[in-house]
Amino acid sequence: MTARWTLNEQQHAGEEHFEPEAVAHFDEKMPFDPTSEIEIFTELGLSKEDTVVDLGTGTGVFPMAIADHCDRVVAIDISEPMIEMVERRSNTSGIQNIETVHAGFLSYTHQGEPASFVFSKDALHHLPDFWKIEALKNIGEMLTTGGIFRLRDFVFSFDPHDSHETIEQWLDEKKDVTEFSDEELYVHFREEYSTYGFLLETMVEQAGFEILESTYNQGFYAEYICQWNGDAT
Ligand SMILES: C[S@@+](CC[C@H](N)C(=O)[O-])C[C@H]1O[C@@H](n2cnc3c(N)ncnc32)[C@H](O)[C@@H]1O
Repeated sequence: MTARWTLNEQQHAGEEHFEPEAVAHFDEKMPFDPTSEIEIFTELGLSKEDTVVDLGTGTGVFPMAIADHCDRVVAIDISEPMIEMVERRSNTSGIQNIETVHAGFLSYTHQGEPASFVFSKDALHHLPDFWKIEALKNIGEMLTTGGIFRLRDFVFSFDPHDSHETIEQWLDEKKDVTEFSDEELYVHFREEYSTYGFLLETMVEQAGFEILESTYNQGFYAEYICQWNGDAT
């Protein structure tokens, strides 16, 4: 039973992710080529026997690409329109091994074979920090010991003392090269929960992962390869 004090994940998931029109155009607005991710998973030992979980899957670009390389993919999203899009896509392409689940980082309960790999891209920042750790604990519970969590998200790595000027400069640079309106960019800082890398790394480790690799990109984006040890440090 879910505790009454649990976060309502839907309320924090970004209104646009529930609008059918926005979902239909999501891939144009946020294009994602999963090729390098498939290479990373393959290098890390992904095999045809493995279960892979994608949390905050969106339109299902990643599950569609990885399905052929593993036994089973579980594509999870808190938005029903996103999940419906993944189902339409996998049905159209005849892919048989993608399971869709309408749930969140916190509410998803993994069933069946434990996952060898969990992927999450551009979604964890929808949770406030306390709930990020709850989500990370849940991810650990889905994984086999030694299993891999590949996390990509909007994470800050600029000096906190320079935050205002760095964000203003980023907004200025972005406004001519992105499909996002100024207001949508402001919302990311005002209403979502991107955090600093030094905080996120501590959360990941406290939840019981070892960080094998972390990459920070221009102060606003990060990529991690984490391994589940099962024990909080
Ligand atoms: C920016 S999109 C990224 C989608 C996809 N991972 C990609 O990179 O193309 C964020 C996705 O996370 C989902 N989301 C937000 N909060 C969530 C939560 N608490 N649990 C699961 N999914 C969530 C949204 O519905 C949306 O589909």
